[in-house]
Amino acid sequence: MSGSLLVDNIGELVTNGAGEGPLGIRRNAAVLVEEGRVVWVGPSAYAPAADHHVDAGGAAVLPGFVDSHAHLVFAGDRATEFAARMAGQPYTGGGIRTTVGATRAATDEELRLTVRRLRGEALRQGTTTMEIKSGYGLTVADEARSLRIAAETSTETTFLGAHVVPAEYADRPDDYVGLVCGPMLAAAAPYAKWIDVFCERGAFDVDHARAILACGQAAGLGVRLHANQLGPGPGVRLGVELDAASVDHCTHLSDADMDALAGTAHSDGSGTRTVATLLPGAEFSTRSPYPDARRLLDAGVTVALATDCNPGSSYTSSMPFCVALAVREMRMTPAEAVWAATAGGARALRRDDIGVLTPGARADLVVLDAPSYLHLAYRPGVPLIRQVIRNGVPQ
Ligand code: NIG
Ligand code: FE
Repeated sequence: MSGSLLVDNIGELVTNGAGEGPLGIRRNAAVLVEEGRVVWVGPSAYAPAADHHVDAGGAAVLPGFVDSHAHLVFAGDRATEFAARMAGQPYTGGGIRTTVGATRAATDEELRLTVRRLRGEALRQGTTTMEIKSGYGLTVADEARSLRIAAETSTETTFLGAHVVPAEYADRPDDYVGLVCGPMLAAAAPYAKWIDVFCERGAFDVDHARAILACGQAAGLGVRLHANQLGPGPGVRLGVELDAASVDHCTHLSDADMDALAGTAHSDGSGTRTVATLLPGAEFSTRSPYPDARRLLDAGVTVALATDCNPGSSYTSSMPFCVALAVREMRMTPAEAVWAATAGGARALRRDDIGVLTPGARADLVVLDAPSYLHLAYRPGVPLIRQVIRNGVPQ
């Protein structure tokens, strides 16, 4: 779309910048967009003219959701495993190998269609930025093609060759770590911005995780980590030590983990910048206790919310669903949850051009079918996304 775009008659605009309360709310507002960027935010009554026009009709508008954690490159599903869990079976992560088998057997086109289907599903629910991980290939060729396909859809791509040790390396995990750090990383790095490890009992221990993340850093990738999902462990502290952009899950946190996460970020770059990304869809779908979001927030930790969309532990692409879960099940206020799903996700990706609606930001906007962001938690399961504008373009 060429020319400027004015979104006016916004009853409640969430800017995550200057304005009322922690969401920087402005009432009766308008947003002017040029060349994919926000160039002006102000009162609707004083809005400048533009080439194109969207009338929000008094509804709420917020920044597009930033889903900073999703596994979209896979084949098949694990509905039967889900049914078994709902009948009392625990989640162990062992089903990852089932998806690895299906993914290796799939064609590029099948994987591409799944990524596009899930990305489209998320976009219709207001997600304008979505991180995409590999991690169901676990061979050099399958990890490289997973990331190549992911990179067709997102610039936020993550190499997760260290998701689990695949069956063919079960009795020689050191050799698998060597493969991940060597030829697999070399093949994956051209398509990846981040590196991630599932640091958990039954997946990768802290020494392996540290070695893999160090190789990724040396190859120019940013660090993120699956940590403390299934039980307590050293993952979160490792993430903070390595200045990871985010440690994800954080379901089981000790006092030492909390202290590490709550270390203050200083202007000289020291202290903790690492975000705690909570994935309540995973606790919902594995029937597990939720992380203690209140404890994190009260300690001043930056919290993000993401879907963890994957066929095993959390097969949802819906950020509104995660916001509702966070409010109802994790005692986050609606404002905290909406901030975490937008600006928090941006922090978890070390981005300052998304998750906010202030001049200079990317023009990613969601128009709700509701007068307030509160309705995202107040009306769970209801399709409240009326319109999505991405990069200044109505979708
Ligand atoms: O983030 N925990 C590790 N990875 C995914 C689950 C993957 C799966 O079960 O297929 C997660 O929950
Ligand atoms: Fe995950």
